[in-house]
Amino acid sequence: MMDMLLIKNATLATAHGCTPAAGAAQHTTVTVTENASVLINGDTIQTVYGSGEAPSFECDNVIDAEGRLVTAGLVDAHTHLIFGGWRQHEVPLKLKGASYLEILQAGGGILNTLKATRAASEDELFDKAAKVLEEMLHHGVTTVEAKSGYGLDAENELKQLRVIRRLAHEGGYNVVPTFMAAHAVPLEFSGDPDGYIEHICTKILPLVADDELCEFVDIFCETGVFNVEQSRKMLQYAQMYGFKTKIHADEIDAIGGSKLAGEIGAVSAEHLIAIDDDGIASMAKGGTIACLLPGTSLYLGKDFAPARKMVEAGVPVAVCTDFNPGSCPSCNLQLCMNLALLRYKLTPQEVLTAVTLNAACAVDRANVCGTVENGKRADLVIWDAPDLDYLVYRMGSNLASTVIKGGKTV
Ligand code: NIG
Ligand code: FE
Repeated sequence: MMDMLLIKNATLATAHGCTPAAGAAQHTTVTVTENASVLINGDTIQTVYGSGEAPSFECDNVIDAEGRLVTAGLVDAHTHLIFGGWRQHEVPLKLKGASYLEILQAGGGILNTLKATRAASEDELFDKAAKVLEEMLHHGVTTVEAKSGYGLDAENELKQLRVIRRLAHEGGYNVVPTFMAAHAVPLEFSGDPDGYIEHICTKILPLVADDELCEFVDIFCETGVFNVEQSRKMLQYAQMYGFKTKIHADEIDAIGGSKLAGEIGAVSAEHLIAIDDDGIASMAKGGTIACLLPGTSLYLGKDFAPARKMVEAGVPVAVCTDFNPGSCPSCNLQLCMNLALLRYKLTPQEVLTAVTLNAACAVDRANVCGTVENGKRADLVIWDAPDLDYLVYRMGSNLASTVIKGGKTV
């Protein structure tokens, strides 16, 4: 039939449903079906056929997967996609022993990227981000969360958010916008984080809301950045405006950010390298998804978040890149999958759930993507891999062979 695309002879691995898979379900939600077929109608998955089943009619467009692994398009639920410049010049400082927070406190780090982002035009930021999104697409990532947070004033935060909107509207990318003006304290508010939080809540957030420029609001809750009370205030303000919330929590110190996330019903909490038992219990109770960022642990030479402990406590785990110019200048989610296997000790099935269904839930898109099921958007990857074990075992290569986004091969 015309306008239909059939993928046949697939080893189909997919999670199921539209809600986060937690605990044992993070593994068991994944089914693997050999010799499966997927029928795509326009941009939508029309029918997933079980082993040896096939449509009763001839399809004009057929891709024979030749037994290779097929999964849903990957979802990267945490990136700082929009920024000017890069930060290669800070690497020697790091190698001499300067910590992440020391570099930030000396006006480098996020504040360095702030200068380059403020200096960049909307078009420059658009072109740069589109290039990264293309790279991600060719690595099998079909949906990407993108944060602001390198403008840190009304004009430049809105500029970043407008770029994200243009990437969706003009670029056709599946991007989910997050407002993160509370990423660092800008020089204009040096020494006055309370004043800056007040400024964001009363001056910037209303403008973002007026223009409907974001879906999520995020904050960097950390020693020397924003404390728990400032984070609570900011995120509750955001919730009053109807935004969903995320929180960078317990990356360096467990100051209570993950506990707060569970208490206020944040959709996700990020990093969680230093999370304690109270934080894990609070997130499990609140249904907050853990967005874990193993590329950042690797790049900063830090510990890896206690992912197994979180899975066992019933916290749904997602794995994301944290792509940014400082702590993780890599947008390769496949590499993070490999790290999640080796360093988090997640099973291949748990890893797949972490970069598809749970990541889709973390960006509130599980009704449209994250699994290969009838009615979802036709975002699929045919991997140069015979099975899921192989996909997560290989390190550093791009194994995405054919990427289909919204029914179209990219
Ligand atoms: O998630 N932790 C805070 N923010 C980013 C880093 C951003 C940067 O260094 O530019 C992160 O790792
Ligand atoms: Fe981050």
